[in-house]
Amino acid sequence: MYLGMDLGTSGLKAILTDADGRVIDGVERPYGNPHPHPGWSEQDPADWIAACEAAIDELQARHGDAIAALRGIGLSGQMHGATLLDADDAVLRPCILWNDTRSAAEAAALDAVPGIRDITGNIVFPGFTAPKLLWVEAHEPEVFARIAKVLLPKDYLRFWLTGGHVGDMSDSAGTSWLDTGARAWSDAALEAGHMRRDQMPDLCEGSAVSGDLRETLRQRWGISGRVVVAGGAGDNAAAACGAGCFAEGQGFLSLGTSGVLLAAKDSYAPDPASAVHTFCHAVPDRWYQMGVILAATDCLNWLSRNVGTAAGELMGKLPDEVSGPSDLTFLPYLSGERTPHNDVRMRGAFVGLDVSHDTTDMTQAVVEGVSFALRDCLAALEGTGTKLEHLIAMGGGARSRYWLETLASVLNLPLGIPAGGEFGGALGAARLAIAAETGADPSAIMTPPEIGETIEPRADLTERYGAAWQRYRALYPAISGATA
Ligand code: XUL
Repeated sequence: MYLGMDLGTSGLKAILTDADGRVIDGVERPYGNPHPHPGWSEQDPADWIAACEAAIDELQARHGDAIAALRGIGLSGQMHGATLLDADDAVLRPCILWNDTRSAAEAAALDAVPGIRDITGNIVFPGFTAPKLLWVEAHEPEVFARIAKVLLPKDYLRFWLTGGHVGDMSDSAGTSWLDTGARAWSDAALEAGHMRRDQMPDLCEGSAVSGDLRETLRQRWGISGRVVVAGGAGDNAAAACGAGCFAEGQGFLSLGTSGVLLAAKDSYAPDPASAVHTFCHAVPDRWYQMGVILAATDCLNWLSRNVGTAAGELMGKLPDEVSGPSDLTFLPYLSGERTPHNDVRMRGAFVGLDVSHDTTDMTQAVVEGVSFALRDCLAALEGTGTKLEHLIAMGGGARSRYWLETLASVLNLPLGIPAGGEFGGALGAARLAIAAETGADPSAIMTPPEIGETIEPRADLTERYGAAWQRYRALYPAISGATA
């Protein structure tokens, strides 16, 4: 038996699988995400531990025999968060999360350090870990002086499970301290970020063993045998493992709070200037690229909050069939943007509002605007030489057929909808646990899900959406100065 746990931004999801990765049961435990000041986004690491304990307790209550037979645990997690520990491993302050923008100035300064993009393969985005530490140094020097270790969120959970300080390659690639091509901490990047090597955890591959479950926890859950904890992965690499996006040309599109277009890579081919992210994959000698937009379903939820209508109801008012681009354009930059603009200051807009437009027109424009932003990501990925012929669609927004039909025609790519069951980060984490514990070839384990239906781009729409995307693209340079 194996456990896959995904430490998300809104909660922890744990799934129990058999040795073939078939899901037996799963539980989710939510936790808060305080925003104590505008642009801040924090979490108390104790809440993650409480959620993990409660989730495994619940699984144990329902499947005592299966938990007693547990052989491996895999971890997936929200990336980039800075969990700061003192010399006694006590947490020094709330974790600063991936979607916290307080360190924009520090990120820009670090990004300007000669060579940093070459080492890390990426722009130093404000959400990444290194600029957060520069912010702490400047604003909380007494905390900074006491930092003995910096752990990413899921690596703090691992520390609680195993007692070891270990990070995996895929998550560590989002810190701006890793040499992403060499899969090792970079002394030059650490120095640029005012950090030391002894403050970093040890590194291991996601599909390797990072440590063993502590004796006290084995006793608590009635486990007599050894339980290995795999290196695991950042949530996007873990989702790629869950969805079988493993080899060149395989990719997925995730419509969650943020939006991700991910392509697996057989080689290391960074192109930081494109604002494409290039990170290590969760297995040795593989990488992946992704375009990230900061607000995907977040845009729909924003509209829903402001018009006082549930998001599902707004989507339900759209026509049954997509009939072509709206004359109203929405720019989805509600929280600034990563790919392709790398712009923390840009904000969203409706352009072309007419006295006849209503909430349904605005909903369509939001769906299209997010889809155009993902088309920008696809163009950025293609600009680096990456080729994608189809994508697996996942995330909450992918439950909307209208949205997927729009996206298929905007991207001009077929979108596969999994037939059901698990295929996300928690499954990817469980699969990494299986790989670590059995030593099996990861590519034999990380297979794509069964596709229930494929939504093809519609020939009558692709050209019109292509033209609408060009009009959308022209708006960013036209109004970016106006919102800054
Ligand atoms: C990736 C990123 C997000 C978080 C969300 O760079 O910032 O996808 O990992 O959890």
